[in-house]
Amino acid sequence: MSTIRIENLTFAYPGSAENVFENLNLQLDSDWKLGLVGRNGRGKTTLLNLLLGRYEYRGRIASTVAFESFPCRVEEPALPAGDVLARICPNAREWQWNRELSLLEVAPEVLDAPFEALSEGERTKVLLAALFLNEGRFPLIDEPTNHLDARAREKVSAYLRRQRGFLLVSHDRRFLDGCVDHVLSLNRSDVELRGGSFSAWFSDFEQRQEAERERDERLRRDIGRMKQAARRTAGWADKVEASKIGAGDKGYVGHKSAKMMQRAKAIEVRQQRAIDQRSELLRNAETAGELKLSPLAHRADVLVAYEGVVVRYGARSVNAPIAFEVRRGERIALDGGNGSGKSSLLKLLLGEPIAHEGSVRIASGLAVSYVPQGTGHMQGSLAGFAREHCLDESLFKAILRKMGFERGQFERDLRKFSEGQKKKVLLARSLCERAHLYVWDEPLNYIDLYSRIQIERLILEFSPTMLFVEHDAAFREKAATRIVRL
Ligand SMILES: Nc1ncnc2c1ncn2[C@@H]1O[C@H](COP(=O)(O)OP(=O)(O)OP(=O)(O)O)[C@@H](O)[C@H]1O
Ligand SMILES: [Mg+2]
Repeated sequence: MSTIRIENLTFAYPGSAENVFENLNLQLDSDWKLGLVGRNGRGKTTLLNLLLGRYEYRGRIASTVAFESFPCRVEEPALPAGDVLARICPNAREWQWNRELSLLEVAPEVLDAPFEALSEGERTKVLLAALFLNEGRFPLIDEPTNHLDARAREKVSAYLRRQRGFLLVSHDRRFLDGCVDHVLSLNRSDVELRGGSFSAWFSDFEQRQEAERERDERLRRDIGRMKQAARRTAGWADKVEASKIGAGDKGYVGHKSAKMMQRAKAIEVRQQRAIDQRSELLRNAETAGELKLSPLAHRADVLVAYEGVVVRYGARSVNAPIAFEVRRGERIALDGGNGSGKSSLLKLLLGEPIAHEGSVRIASGLAVSYVPQGTGHMQGSLAGFAREHCLDESLFKAILRKMGFERGQFERDLRKFSEGQKKKVLLARSLCERAHLYVWDEPLNYIDLYSRIQIERLILEFSPTMLFVEHDAAFREKAATRIVRL
């Protein structure tokens, strides 16, 4: 067991007025399987980078164990995957390789192909195996699930559960529950560490917030009542005071009005105490307002029809011929393993030039709103982004606020957004657009749990017609009306 100690850590990005961390104190144990959770932009990735010594900070980080991170940069992706691995963990033997890869269900031949030719899922698995083959290091793993299909998520979660200790950032409920035994949560106003599963922590956190909400509501009512009472009493005191006539009255009336004044003061003190107590509550409550969508209704029943479609890369067919229709009101989840051509099928419908056989028929005048899988080369201001995509800027920003953006973040360049913040920008754009069909490619990648739940609710309430790809099992079960398998 090794100890990682963080003392009075304070950090802000250069040129940024806000601290990401302020006087953070923590003690971690390298034997823990530690889940690091928190809403987008709270500083999870920043914390990993601080541990890795990549930024300057105030305070102290002391560790008796060295760190290793996922994803790590691959310097020469054109090399065979096996060579890439040999560079990352030079001491590992071949049998060790084979053992790890078979646990992760990766065929050994994969190591012969150039690393850059592997699917995202294969790359993830290979790099994770490398991470654990470097013994004696403490792995820091940042969102490994984003490109993994549902089965791969299960496998990788089980793989992690077998390991000694690690720090894992993830927003996927089932994935976390499959492998962590401690949770470190970056809350709105503090940082919380406790033992147990993710679900145990989450339901406890929600219960505490619920109890605080009830107490907050009671205090609010009390304060209202006290305000009225104080006003009434002060009014009486004034009236009594004004009713003084002649010297004879003075003693009795004066005494009575002074007493009333005293009572008004006492109420005021109680009121202030209640206000103070209230401000102590709900500082960690996560805001997740209800989102809205205004889908358009198309007159046709069949909006899109795929007929015998095969996506081709060069001479290779990516999928077996597929045929299905998207009818008005349906929400179809396109399901298939990594590399089975899901994104390409979506892009075909958007008219992108993708080599294929078969045909995609589209109802005339169909308005489509698209969320791409990658956040690509987003840059510039939010206002500029809104203009470029003809969005109502105030609606766009209101949606982002509901998804947990602080106002201060609106002025920042998109390049400096966290991954989740970027994906939220793409989702918010789609929510601003009125369309007959919403085509979303892995909309929840990088998105925090609260917003995942917000989006689930939105879909169930507004019932847009959708064609989407998403590997978050909990989400797919709620949102899809039908699953089309590749
Ligand atoms: N290079 C940068 N310059 C300025 N601000 C940055 C930079 N990188 C990140 N930030 C900001 O710092 C905060 C923390 O970002 P970080 O990437 O650590 O969040 P995160 O918790 O990992 O989020 P996510 O769940 O979306 O990955 C965010 O508000 C982000 O916008
Ligand atoms: Mg991050």
